[in-house]
Amino acid sequence: MTESRITSSDSVVNSKENSSRTGGETRKSLILLISLVLPVVGFFYLSILTPLPEAYAVCSRRGAKIYTVDDNDTVVQCLVVHNTFIVDTGSLEDVSSRWFARSSFPLPIRYISRGSIIVPGLMDSHAHILEYGASRQLFLGDARSIQEIVSLVRQHILVNAEMYDDKLRSIEGWGWDHLSWSVKEWPTADAFESDPVLRDRSVVLRSKDGHALWLSKKALESIAPLPRDFEGGVIFRRENGEPTGVLLDGAQSLVKGSGPTEQDLLRHFTTTIDDALSFGLTSIHDAGFQPVSLAFFERQTAKGSLPIRIYGMRHFNEKSPDLGNLSIPILNAANGRLNVRSVKIFADGALRSGGAALCAPYFDNPEEKGFMRIEEQLLHEVIIQYLRDGWQVNVHAIGDCANKAVLDAFEDALQYVNVSALRPRLEHAQMLTPEDVMRIGRLGVIASVQPAHATSDMWYAEERLGPERVKGLYAFRSLHDNGGILAFGSDFPVEDMNPLSGFYAAITRLSQDGTSPKGSVGWFPEQRLTREQALRGMTINAAYASFAEERLGSIVPGKLADFVVLSQDIMRIPVYQILKTKVRATIIDGRPVYGYI
Ligand SMILES: *[C@@H]1O[C@H](CO)[C@@H](O)[C@H](O)[C@H]1NC(C)=O
Ligand SMILES: *[C@@H]1O[C@H](CO)[C@@H](O)[C@H](O)[C@H]1NC(C)=O
Ligand SMILES: *[C@@H]1O[C@H](CO)[C@@H](O)[C@H](O)[C@H]1NC(C)=O
Ligand SMILES: [Zn+2]
Repeated sequence: MTESRITSSDSVVNSKENSSRTGGETRKSLILLISLVLPVVGFFYLSILTPLPEAYAVCSRRGAKIYTVDDNDTVVQCLVVHNTFIVDTGSLEDVSSRWFARSSFPLPIRYISRGSIIVPGLMDSHAHILEYGASRQLFLGDARSIQEIVSLVRQHILVNAEMYDDKLRSIEGWGWDHLSWSVKEWPTADAFESDPVLRDRSVVLRSKDGHALWLSKKALESIAPLPRDFEGGVIFRRENGEPTGVLLDGAQSLVKGSGPTEQDLLRHFTTTIDDALSFGLTSIHDAGFQPVSLAFFERQTAKGSLPIRIYGMRHFNEKSPDLGNLSIPILNAANGRLNVRSVKIFADGALRSGGAALCAPYFDNPEEKGFMRIEEQLLHEVIIQYLRDGWQVNVHAIGDCANKAVLDAFEDALQYVNVSALRPRLEHAQMLTPEDVMRIGRLGVIASVQPAHATSDMWYAEERLGPERVKGLYAFRSLHDNGGILAFGSDFPVEDMNPLSGFYAAITRLSQDGTSPKGSVGWFPEQRLTREQALRGMTINAAYASFAEERLGSIVPGKLADFVVLSQDIMRIPVYQILKTKVRATIIDGRPVYGYI
């Protein structure tokens, strides 16, 4: 009882902060304008200004527009919120007869605008919260040339007085991709030398895929002398041996950096959460709390609440394995908004860079089978150990051999524990043999997939894997039909944060401009999911993947009131319109945290 009161008052504070940050000013001027010009209409709009009462209903004016995602995918006209909970759903008539009779005052009804719909709060099952925020401080992903990037870095320093004055501070940016530039060449340290603001400053710019660093001369000097070669990485050099300023893969670890300050972390966090709430996200699964981020989230929690729900995966360090010893899980901290009861382990690398562990050589490189990031015997042991200790075990696995090794361990764990009850997850689950697709369903393993990766990788995947094995890559429909539970994520900042990008990719298997290597029917169209299946991937299945399906993931009486108002009916409109859909409001615990209702 006491607990639920604390929850509601805290979330009210949160929602006030957030909505004044997001829509407050525009809303006020809109109200002013309307009330001056059209007093009658103005009166109607005043309802948006009055704070939401403890209990209220949200309805569509005509027809059922609330996609509940309950067991039968029921669509209803109204939902009723009391405090932080959904307490009723149904037609306007039914809800009215139940609630108007009951209360001594009329239950206020908010109507969603024409064309809008409501879906459960959206969840991202695989993302990197602080990394996204860090990547947005100086984002280079839209630049198309070296010159453009140099001027972005320069601007960044000029508008940031503190940074401008502190010449010793290293400038960090993220997201360049030389393959997207008009001239597709590797950049060099010289690029910064001709600019008076940048010359003599340490600049460290991370590539979009995180596999390369581009350094200024000063930054290179700070890590000199560089080793001749680097195991597991590359140092680009000129003919005379001088480093050019680009480091690949493992060689990136030569750059230490001072690490973010508390203020940096707070800024990164706020940046991510503001964007997330504006995209309708109400829960995020963080795919790997490094010790620094875990400590940050613990400090935030100690202050009271969090503005969004966070499900954390503890980072497992394969270099110094603290076997099964992660102390105790964090359960329902921050008024239920922070839970950390899973561990994230890396099995292999990535497909694009050739690090995905395959059982047979790459089709385009008969010498190469990729690699495991952790010795297979150790992987096997730690998976079983963590399961026996009661942790949910979430393993990054891309190649068919990596997925097989992980499933073998899950299967062997059966002799000690009820594996499906621990809901282990394959993070990415990208490439699977037909036998392993069936094993996922049989063992009750969750496939934590990123549909947007499928449409990013479809352009080169067949070249790398050949015509047979490629059929087992991103085989979402096969996974679903064999009893696999698919939880959707974006892997932001690697892909676009907007969950509708994943929804669109999963149901079309087309790039955002409507194309694919197989034409406009989509890439392996038999692997498309239905809209209902895809919506489950970002709601109830994601809730299940975080042990939260009893409280979250659908609009059902008794669950917490997390829901989103979308400007268009994504379950019916033509697919090419889906990405034009806007979020009108995001509601957590019954209170708007973005937009308004
Ligand atoms: C779903 O439909 C079945 C069969 O009509 C019914 O028995 C069940 O109660 C329904 N469940 C929900 C949650 O509405
Ligand atoms: C496990 O971790 C805790 C906390 O860091 C530490 O105190 C303890 O000694 C560790 N136990 C083992 C067996 O390593
Ligand atoms: C294992 O757990 C699942 C889910 O909690 C349950 O349905 C099943 O009965 C359990 N199996 C055994 C053998 O206990
Ligand atoms: Zn990730």
